Amino acid sequence: MATYPTVRPRRLRQSDAMRRLVRETSLSADQLIAPLFIRHGAGVNKPIASMPGHSQLSVDTAVREAETIAELGIPAVLLFGIPAHKDAVGSENFDPEGIVPQAAYAIKKALPELLVISDMCFCEYTDHGHCGILNNPEHPGYDPQLGEGYLLNDATLALLGKAAVVHAQAGADIIAPSGMIDGMVAGIRSALDAADLQRVAIMSYAAKYSSGFYGPFRDAAESPPSFGDRSQYQMDPANTREALREVELDVEEGADLLMVKPALAYLDIIRQVKDRFDLPLAAYQVSGEYSMVKAAAERGWIDERRVALESLLSIRRAGADMIITYWAKDAVRWLR
Ligand code: PBG
Repeated sequence: MATYPTVRPRRLRQSDAMRRLVRETSLSADQLIAPLFIRHGAGVNKPIASMPGHSQLSVDTAVREAETIAELGIPAVLLFGIPAHKDAVGSENFDPEGIVPQAAYAIKKALPELLVISDMCFCEYTDHGHCGILNNPEHPGYDPQLGEGYLLNDATLALLGKAAVVHAQAGADIIAPSGMIDGMVAGIRSALDAADLQRVAIMSYAAKYSSGFYGPFRDAAESPPSFGDRSQYQMDPANTREALREVELDVEEGADLLMVKPALAYLDIIRQVKDRFDLPLAAYQVSGEYSMVKAAAERGWIDERRVALESLLSIRRAGADMIITYWAKDAVRWLR
């Protein structure tokens, strides 16, 4: 076997042209999805303290932001809503006049080519901040064995289906259930099909971990749980086989696209899902991954642009076909 000095791997690193020629992984606008946070009002652009560079927008300002995103060649936005009122069952999530249906309608009207993905979860809409209906003696389906505060799975499924139909009827192209509720993909698929929304795709947050990296997001979406955490439904960071099982179930239930979340601390999961399943795979580079870099860059400790692009590339290298990222716009500009 030939070795040094005959073999010199550095030959292929000696110039930019040579490095471009042998580059194995690509990153382009086509692979990015930009999240947007929408609230009621007009002309709103309310900066999110924990996520520098991002704001809560009203429908009108979100449409302008979506125009910029589309002009940059990014194919999709992911919508999160901050409701006017929160209640025990998250009513605004299945209200046709709710904030996300309004935004989906306005964005599709202005930009029919831009894909609108709706994050389908109840945590932003419930007064307790959990991702569905809780076990409560005052509600139907109460089970004293489960204890108060337990998230009721099947009662939540029914509402998820209802909300998915409302968001899809308003214009969402893709529904992205993010609550880690058992059966959420099948429940949403059958609700959509029963409403003649066969064209609407489902991007499942198939392996979503209970993660501290969501910290800044809870500020952005005003959705922290009022008690406890999400570990009774989101996955334990220690588990790999369970993630593959979760993904397998979502494939069987009819998911069109899969997602692993968060990204950087779960590159091994992205790789294993990519190797085992043939559906398109998304990774969510979450708020904490973004804000940590922003904070360190503000202190001059690291180069934001370099670290952001390196992280995005590593997520692609691990096997993600597409990435949901708060750097979507910046990344496209940097890549130009
Ligand atoms: C749930 C949801 C969350 C995120 C996306 N969808 C919060 C959570 O699960 O606690 C987090 C995204 C991020 O941190 O960027 N609706």
